[in-house]
Amino acid sequence: MALKATNATTSNAWKKLQAHFDSIKTEHLKDLFKADANRANDLTIKWEDFYVDFSKNRMTTETVDLLVELANELDLKNAIAKYFEGDIINATEGRAVLHTALRAPKDAKVLVDGENVIPEVHEVKKKIEKFTNSVVSGNHRGYSGKSITDVVNIGIGGSDLGPAMVVDSLQYYKNQLNTHFVSNVDGDHYQEVIKDLNPETTLFVIVSKTFTTQETLSNANSIRSWFLKSQPKEAVANHFVAVSTNIESVKSFGIDEANIFPMKDWVGGRFSLWSAVGLSISLAVGYKNFESLLDGAHQMDEHFRTADFNNNIPVISALLTIWYNNFFKSESEAIIPYTQYLNQFATYLQQGIMESNGKSVDRGGNKVNYQTGTLIWGEPGTNSQHAFFQLIHQGTKLIPTDFIGYVESLYGDKDHHDKLMSNYFAQTEALMNGKTEEEVMSELKGQSASAEEIEQLLAFKVFEGNKPTTSILIQKLSPKSLGKLIAMYEHKIFVQGIIWNIYSYDQFGVELGKQLAKSILNELSNDDVTANHDSSTQNLISFYKNNC
Ligand code: F6P
Repeated sequence: MALKATNATTSNAWKKLQAHFDSIKTEHLKDLFKADANRANDLTIKWEDFYVDFSKNRMTTETVDLLVELANELDLKNAIAKYFEGDIINATEGRAVLHTALRAPKDAKVLVDGENVIPEVHEVKKKIEKFTNSVVSGNHRGYSGKSITDVVNIGIGGSDLGPAMVVDSLQYYKNQLNTHFVSNVDGDHYQEVIKDLNPETTLFVIVSKTFTTQETLSNANSIRSWFLKSQPKEAVANHFVAVSTNIESVKSFGIDEANIFPMKDWVGGRFSLWSAVGLSISLAVGYKNFESLLDGAHQMDEHFRTADFNNNIPVISALLTIWYNNFFKSESEAIIPYTQYLNQFATYLQQGIMESNGKSVDRGGNKVNYQTGTLIWGEPGTNSQHAFFQLIHQGTKLIPTDFIGYVESLYGDKDHHDKLMSNYFAQTEALMNGKTEEEVMSELKGQSASAEEIEQLLAFKVFEGNKPTTSILIQKLSPKSLGKLIAMYEHKIFVQGIIWNIYSYDQFGVELGKQLAKSILNELSNDDVTANHDSSTQNLISFYKNNC
């Protein structure tokens, strides 16, 4: 059954939230803390190895109750059941959305068209396990008999970002294989990656759900041609495998069925790292770690599916986005991991969040009259503190920020870790408290500034504070805790889509540019074509053609 299509802004809870917003919008977080001694405890959710403190957000327990009332009025519980049970909630593409089934245990039952999909999920996992073990152990060899030393993942979007982010994040757990990623159709990308590789010891994993994506097929073809310059045709079987739903096209590319890792159309590209798309992850860190990643995600699935909304990390996190986006009119959210390992995390989430919820037509087919998807950005702390934190602290925009940190570092350098985490704690405190005129004045006096200097500098040194942050503190970065964290954001995306009454699982917005690029590509290689372009585009194309 389809998801309900209710405009949230017409609900009773929304009206209550608007009135509540008007009464607390100017409240300073400092005062909210002063007024409520239990605030930090009441607004923190502790779950397994996660400690999530929402209390430095511009809300009260009443706000949370009203947001939960909104979720209830819009029947979120029922929508969650449909999501997990395999209903066609991606109605515009006529598909279920079942990345959760990919991490469900063997004895689970999830029906698609009346058939339980779990046995097949576990069959593919077995195939991933077997292949991973044979490559990592050196049993699977290159055509000339040498062990595989390098793996190149060829894919783009969800067929690249998820595996690339996880492999980078879990590099501490990696084995002897070196993993590389080629995604951009920019020929310099693949050239740079292959230039130091030995074709005799490299395995190429072509990942494309549709096996029609221009970038991936161009890169795969060019890399295969490079490979065949030094290797015989028969060597392809040892060095090229593929992940796709489109088995026939993979076979026509020249890959044996035995070397194809299948996936299903109910796995969305940007949620696919849990499927065979994660083959490069499994190869890089070993199958056991890949399974732990899936296991962590499953634990978050269970938390999301069963916990009360008031105590549910993805639900509260998503409702806070609604609160800031639709009431405070914030436009973006920053995600700042205090670990260099999660360097690619915000980039990965940009696809997950912005491709999913960057929609302006509601589930009833009407243009929305409220804001939807937020802009997502971020870089690891402390680097980002020296780059863009100035704007978060003293700029004109309200940017709710997630701080993600770990209690333990992986190599155990306590001195560095204390320094890192003191910055994490200090930033959330500084963003909340700011610095008043009085504080700036007494600080400047303490530095023996003259009255004139104080007058000149005062306004510039004041920090308003009242900048919202959510502190996510996790015991340790491991495959399991990373799985939980990724799944947390996946479910946050789902809840946002339900409240905004949009379809989160299609991505028609990426099509138009692709279509135009195809016809322009024809023009670039064919002088006769005179398509009807605007004068700007025409001039650019002419300039390019005349000068290349
Ligand atoms: O950018 C659009 C998109 O369809 C993404 O959703 C997807 O992850 C990516 O292209 C790659 O698609 P495929 O895996 O089919 O090559």
